[in-house]
Amino acid sequence: MNTTPPTHQRPMILAGNWKMNLRQADCAAFASHLQRHYAQPSHQCNPAPTTKVVLFPAFPFLASLASSLRGTPVEIGAQDLHQNASGAHTGDVSAQQSRSVGATWALCGHSERRQEHGESDQLVAAKTLAALSGGLSPMVCVGETLAEREAGQTEAVLGRQLHAVLDHCPALCELAEPDGRASANPDWALAYEPVWAIGTGKTATPDIAQQAHRFLRERLANRIGNLAEGLPLLYGGSAKPANCQDLLAQPDVDGLLIGGASLDSTSFLDMICRCG
Ligand code: PGA
Repeated sequence: MNTTPPTHQRPMILAGNWKMNLRQADCAAFASHLQRHYAQPSHQCNPAPTTKVVLFPAFPFLASLASSLRGTPVEIGAQDLHQNASGAHTGDVSAQQSRSVGATWALCGHSERRQEHGESDQLVAAKTLAALSGGLSPMVCVGETLAEREAGQTEAVLGRQLHAVLDHCPALCELAEPDGRASANPDWALAYEPVWAIGTGKTATPDIAQQAHRFLRERLANRIGNLAEGLPLLYGGSAKPANCQDLLAQPDVDGLLIGGASLDSTSFLDMICRCG
C-alpha cells in the first residue's frame, strides 16, 4: 500500500454524507463518540490542524447534531437546499433555514439528487448560488455514470457540470486566496463522485481519481487561474478506511466525501485518524 503522506498544501476535508440513514438516537450516539474523541484525542490520532471534518445528516437532525458538536472542530452541512430563500415550497428547506440551526455547508448536485429528483445542471447551479447567498459553503458534486465513462465521455460530462455552476456563480471564481495559497476556510469545494463508484463497493483506483481531479483542476485554472490551486477537490465513491490513504496520497485529491463508511462512528474516526 502506498502510504506516502500528501504533499499539497490545501486544507483536507473529510466529509460524511449520511443520506437517508440513521435516526435521532443513532445521531446522538455518533455525536457523543466524536465528543469523547475530541475531548481526549488518542496520541495515535493526530490529524493535521488544517483537516476539516464535515457531517451531512438528514434534515431532522441538523439542529441537534450542530448543537451537540459545538465546541468540536466538526462542521455540519445540509444534504440539499431549495434555490429560493423562502416561500411556498412544501417540503423544501432553504439555505437560510439550515444556516439558522448551525449548518455551514450544503451539498449541491449530488448524483442521487440529479438522478432521483431530475436535478439539471441549471438547477444545481441555481442551488449553488442560493447556498452562497444564504451563507452556506457549497460542496458541488460532479461525476459521470458508467455508461458515460464507457462511451469515453467522462471529461465532457465533468466539464459540462463544472462550467454550468461556474457560469451561474461568478462569485465562485473569486472565493479563494488571491495568490492561490490554500485558504484555511475554503468557501466552497468540489467533489468528484463517479456515479459507478457510489454505494457499489467499486472505488475508483487512485489513478482514475487523480486523472479526473487533475482534469477538474486544469479546467478550474482556465477559469480562475491560480485560485484553482487553493480549492479543495474531494473524491467520493466507496471511500473507506482501507483505501483512504491511497486515494489521499494523490496530489490533487484533497479530501473525501464518504457515504457508507461514514455511518459508523468508529469507521469514520478511523478514517480521520489514518488520513486526516
Ligand atoms: P459511498 O457514497 O461512499 O457510500 O459510495 C459516497 C457519496 O455518495 O457521497
